[in-house]
Amino acid sequence: MNADLYKVHELPKIPTELTDLVTKSDPEDSEWLMYKYTNRPELLERYRKILRWYNVPSEISDYIFDTEFFANHPERDKLGCFYHMVLPDCDGIHTDDLRTYTYNYVIDNGMPDNRAVPVATYDSDQNLVTQIKTYPGTWYYLNVEKNHRVWNYTQPRRIITINNLKTVEEIHRHHPELMI
Ligand SMILES: [Fe+2]
Repeated sequence: MNADLYKVHELPKIPTELTDLVTKSDPEDSEWLMYKYTNRPELLERYRKILRWYNVPSEISDYIFDTEFFANHPERDKLGCFYHMVLPDCDGIHTDDLRTYTYNYVIDNGMPDNRAVPVATYDSDQNLVTQIKTYPGTWYYLNVEKNHRVWNYTQPRRIITINNLKTVEEIHRHHPELMI
């Protein structure tokens, strides 16, 4: 995990019958992850417009964590598997608050005709460091503590994400405004 960003070549595509479980029906709102962190209505409303991050059915997480790569991952006990929809408005350079790294599997990259969508990392002065093109079926690792950006897509990107989500206490330490 030294590279800032790289494509994880060895991981197999997730079978369509599994990804259909999240893409063919909208997830229940009760599985929306922000409920873990806040119950302030105005914040929930604001986050709902930019963040769509849901638990996945056990069929998907069982499949992921049975693969050799994740079963033997050094931080296996810290990893969770989620369904993430990223809206086209979220296309600026940023760092993530909820996690330090992520493995993303692209189900739909938010472009018609499966056109490529760039994912890039930047240094602290916002100079480009690495850039890859993603397609449906691409796995990539991203250090999200560092500046990164995904752009040039016109519809929600649909992703399965495996990451070390921070605890509620860790999040509240940096974001006391989430607490009532
Ligand atoms: Fe991000």
